[in-house]
Amino acid sequence: MADIILGIESSCDDTSAAVISDRVLLSNVIASQDVHRAYGGVVPELASRAHEQNIIPVVSEALSRAGVAPSELSAIAFTRGPGLLGSLLVGTSFAKALSLSLEVPMVMVNHLQGHVLAGFIRQQGQPVREPSFPYLCLLVSGGNSQIVKVNSPLDFEILGQTIDDAVGEAFDKCSKMLGLGYPGGPIIDRLAKEGNPDRFHFAKPHIDGLDYSFSGVKTSLLYFVRDEMAKDPLFMDKNKEDICASFQKCLIDILMDKLIKAVRQTGIKEIAIGGGVAANSGLRARVEAEGRKRGWNTYLPELKFTTDNAAMIAVAGYFHYLAGERAPLDIAPVSRIADF
Ligand code: KG4
Repeated sequence: MADIILGIESSCDDTSAAVISDRVLLSNVIASQDVHRAYGGVVPELASRAHEQNIIPVVSEALSRAGVAPSELSAIAFTRGPGLLGSLLVGTSFAKALSLSLEVPMVMVNHLQGHVLAGFIRQQGQPVREPSFPYLCLLVSGGNSQIVKVNSPLDFEILGQTIDDAVGEAFDKCSKMLGLGYPGGPIIDRLAKEGNPDRFHFAKPHIDGLDYSFSGVKTSLLYFVRDEMAKDPLFMDKNKEDICASFQKCLIDILMDKLIKAVRQTGIKEIAIGGGVAANSGLRARVEAEGRKRGWNTYLPELKFTTDNAAMIAVAGYFHYLAGERAPLDIAPVSRIADF
């Protein structure tokens, strides 16, 4: 009999619920929160309140679209962290209440594991193409920039990570600084398509090993724009496409230099990407191009599985469930998790 898992994700500003049968996706419902747009960033208190309003309708909708009755669930997988504590509390408390009332076990999932395992979501009627173990995952989001070696669904090694800002943070903060809006990643991605990526050059960090740094490039962009605007106040307006294209190329170069180094060091040529920044069109094209050139097998998640979603939590939860793991009812969410 198939294992039917309900996934619940509420780590930041998306309330999501998904149902899978073994690893096949039956439904994936996401309620995004527009309330933060006016503030240029996620406001934690508003996020918690919106999760409270959304969670019941989102879970009901996921079950009904899947055609699954609550009594048919094998387990409830929920995001324990990392994320905003108030947001995580809503998903965790809801999972506990449902688990208690249905007498169905709970499994806890590390949100980052979800992103790393997004490539294992299977979709009805679509061919299965999944990385084989071990594979390398470039995990790039608003809170993380890591190269992770995935030995098995539940065995992860962080080979390198950012020592300061995450790459998504660099996109978001620079977009805000340039007056382009929030969230910055999709806006810069869109403008970059119209610009010349080789027009401007920004300082790249020199960090040992496989670690990343993105705070220097942000400062380099800030000083560059400030100096140019002093000469021509319309500089930004006239050149925003080229600035975005050049800045995005610089970020992608930084990400790819270390990924290529990681492949060289490990000899692993199974390469996946995950996290919100994995939606970036420039990064996706570059990973595929490097893959063709270097003989890698590349795995890019569909765009809907790059941002926060419960389908990836359900799939990661499925692996934990199969391994016999169960979360106790007194489990508490955690805003930070140092490791996988
Ligand atoms: O994984 P995610 O939804 O949330 C967490 O950080 O956990 O990632 C959000 C990040 C934001 O920084 C957003 O600007 C970035 O992903 N992002 C993008 C794109 N779409 C979303 N960055 C670059 N290009 C994109 N197309």
